[in-house]
Amino acid sequence: MLRIERLNTHYGASHILQGVDLTVPRGRICAMLGRNGVGKTTTVRSIMGLVPPTSGRVLLDGQDIAGWAPHLVARAGVAYVPEGRLIFPDLSVLENIRVGERKPAKVWTIERLLTLFPSLRERSGNRGWQLSGGEQQMLAIARALVSDPRVVLLDEPSQGLAPLVVRELAGVIRTLCAEGVTILLIEQNMKLAEAVADELHIMVKGRIVYGASPEVFRAEEAEIRGRYLTV
Ligand SMILES: Nc1ncnc2c1ncn2[C@@H]1O[C@H](COP(=O)(O)OP(=O)(O)OP(=O)(O)O)[C@@H](O)[C@H]1O
Ligand SMILES: [Mg+2]
Repeated sequence: MLRIERLNTHYGASHILQGVDLTVPRGRICAMLGRNGVGKTTTVRSIMGLVPPTSGRVLLDGQDIAGWAPHLVARAGVAYVPEGRLIFPDLSVLENIRVGERKPAKVWTIERLLTLFPSLRERSGNRGWQLSGGEQQMLAIARALVSDPRVVLLDEPSQGLAPLVVRELAGVIRTLCAEGVTILLIEQNMKLAEAVADELHIMVKGRIVYGASPEVFRAEEAEIRGRYLTV
């Protein structure tokens, strides 16, 4: 389980996260929605230790990992799929996956990843720059999985992808969940979030202001959208 308690993060003098509280139960998918610039990426960067939080706790199965160095957070079992994918353009597909490898995977072996992502198998010798946006996204997920994480943080994976690829992505996210991976999904694509998440949370100005099941969210959607999500 991933539990964030009263998390505060600053960039210099800017107080970005202002007491974030969020719980992702083990084996569940929680989606975080919110307008541009509210602090969604800062939340996952704070969890990973890429920007150290100024106060608050990040509990991973009860252990407080707030402020740990990124490689220690990764070793503790948290993997991060960054916004924009950040694939190495000059490395091959297999080399990109191996960047995420800490020791040979037990659960998400390279063979299994290539079965989960058939397009990556077909393109295993290609360089990162030769892949489509969808293939790059799957590669970024494969690179995260090869570390056998307990928790995966996905930052806007559907960005720029065609609807058909977003559906494929939804299938992949459900597969991970079925395999027991705990997922925090940051999304602007509400359809994807509603389709896969067990709970939806909305961030406004560095705080979580709303949380509900997809069913409840759907019933309240028009009002919630207007109040918290549309520009
Ligand atoms: N490295 C940085 N230094 C200073 N300020 C930053 C830095 N990164 C982000 N910010 C600021 O922090 C705030 C939150 O940014 P963040 O990237 O977390 O938002 P976001 O919710 O992920 O937005 P988006 O939907 O555009 O991805 C924004 O005002 C942004 O300008
Ligand atoms: Mg962001």
